Amino acid sequence: MKTAEFSHAFNQVHKPSKVALAVTQKLDGSYNLITLEWFMRTSIRPPMFAISIGNSRYSYRCLEANPFFNLVFPTSEMKELCKAAGSTTGAEVDKFELNEVEFIDGKLKGFPVLTQAKAVFECEVVTQVRSGDHTIYVGQVKHSWLNDEGDILLIQ
Ligand SMILES: Cc1cc2nc3c(=O)[nH]c(=O)nc-3n(C[C@H](O)[C@H](O)[C@H](O)COP(=O)(O)O)c2cc1C
Repeated sequence: MKTAEFSHAFNQVHKPSKVALAVTQKLDGSYNLITLEWFMRTSIRPPMFAISIGNSRYSYRCLEANPFFNLVFPTSEMKELCKAAGSTTGAEVDKFELNEVEFIDGKLKGFPVLTQAKAVFECEVVTQVRSGDHTIYVGQVKHSWLNDEGDILLIQ
């Protein structure tokens, strides 16, 4: 064991990793997608998830304006969508249209429930905390969706 530069040490331990997408509502009422590696379950009763969103992301502006998100657990078929959602910004493009994302309307606020996903959790933000250059949004799960088909995407 020896001391190391932070990024070097972290890079050795964070993969394989689960990845998720979060759906938020844009300021014009349409929807955005962001790829996330920094998310976790934070409560059993009631069920809650936390997502960590960079303060420079367009998704941050969306969440500040409308504190709801759908947390999407993608299947391996959604790899390209995760790449695209993680490398373009909703400030410039419509990620749903551009990537021909298929969805049905959710039950909470009508946010899209991606039909190719393994599971989707509709969340209402109940608390948030600044964490350096990110903000952690804790969402209480209001509705859960599950697909019997498909296997979960891992990034290597
Ligand atoms: C695999 C992967 C994981 C990512 N994880 C996060 C994350 O946890 N939090 C975050 O703010 N950005 C994360 N990003 C970066 C955002 O997805 C990316 O900046 C995206 O373009 C932001 O979109 P937006 O501007 O529409 O919100 C990740 C990107 C990739 C490819």
